[in-house]
Amino acid sequence: MLQFHIDEERCIQCGECVLECPAGVIAMEDYPEMINEEGCFQCQHCLAVCPTAAVSILGKNPDVSTVLQGNMPDPASLVTLIKGRRAVRRYRDKDLVPELIDELLEVSCHAPTGVNARSVLFTVVRERAVLDELREYLISRIDKQKEEGKLPEGLVGKYLGWSVKAWQEEGKDIIFRGAPHLLITSAPADAPCPDQDCLIALTTFQLIAHAKGVGTVWDGICMMALGLCPEVAGKLGIPENHTLGYAIAFGDPAVEYLRTVQRGPALVNVVKW
Ligand SMILES: Cc1cc2nc3c(=O)[nH]c(=O)nc-3n(C[C@H](O)[C@H](O)[C@H](O)COP(=O)(O)O)c2cc1C
Repeated sequence: MLQFHIDEERCIQCGECVLECPAGVIAMEDYPEMINEEGCFQCQHCLAVCPTAAVSILGKNPDVSTVLQGNMPDPASLVTLIKGRRAVRRYRDKDLVPELIDELLEVSCHAPTGVNARSVLFTVVRERAVLDELREYLISRIDKQKEEGKLPEGLVGKYLGWSVKAWQEEGKDIIFRGAPHLLITSAPADAPCPDQDCLIALTTFQLIAHAKGVGTVWDGICMMALGLCPEVAGKLGIPENHTLGYAIAFGDPAVEYLRTVQRGPALVNVVKW
């Protein structure tokens, strides 16, 4: 049951919820009515667009939502955040408090998903001690494959070979770049857009993390290691029917960037039909 409810004392019958509904499942009778519960994909646009907070769906009280007017971030600050975010490869030896990690994940689950599936699973390492164990496991598995001459050619072999050597000879962590935490997104393979959903969720995580002073680095080397050790996903508790999205390592940064890098212009292809 969608619990679509109109507060008739508040409703001004403007029809905004009817116009807005992407599935076309709300019709205007005397008041807006849900006409096809199965067709609704629970995006809550009807609740978000109502000028008088008269629409409730899924049992949500519209008065609990954050009011947007006057609360949106200043665009210039957002531009600085986007341009000032860096791949952080130096971290303090201190775990983030679990509440902060939970808050970052809570924000990240607001990222859009295809057909509003919201099935992205956030697999998170909340303690450095756990990541240390995962690194030990990966290094020993990769080292074994290296010794047996089974490391793949190309980038994967190059980066994983380097990761093992740097760890064994210098105690340098190339796989997680010394970060204490790891986030992997995955989604059911039969979701409408599992790959895209996972990447958008991580991109969202990365931005809110940096806004809160948490450093992140997209972790392709971790993904390569997981590719070589397919049993690890299960050990991490990722369901078998899930497609792995990507990984981000994160933590309290031990580096401060004082200015943006300079990129651009964007590569643009203007369509002339
Ligand atoms: C998909 C992807 C995978 C990446 N994998 C790694 C990685 O395994 N290790 C690493 O140190 N940096 C990794 N990076 C970080 C990039 O090297 C970095 O984003 C790029 O050099 C630009 O620097 P910036 O992020 O500071 O702008 C990755 C970035 C992306 C987008």
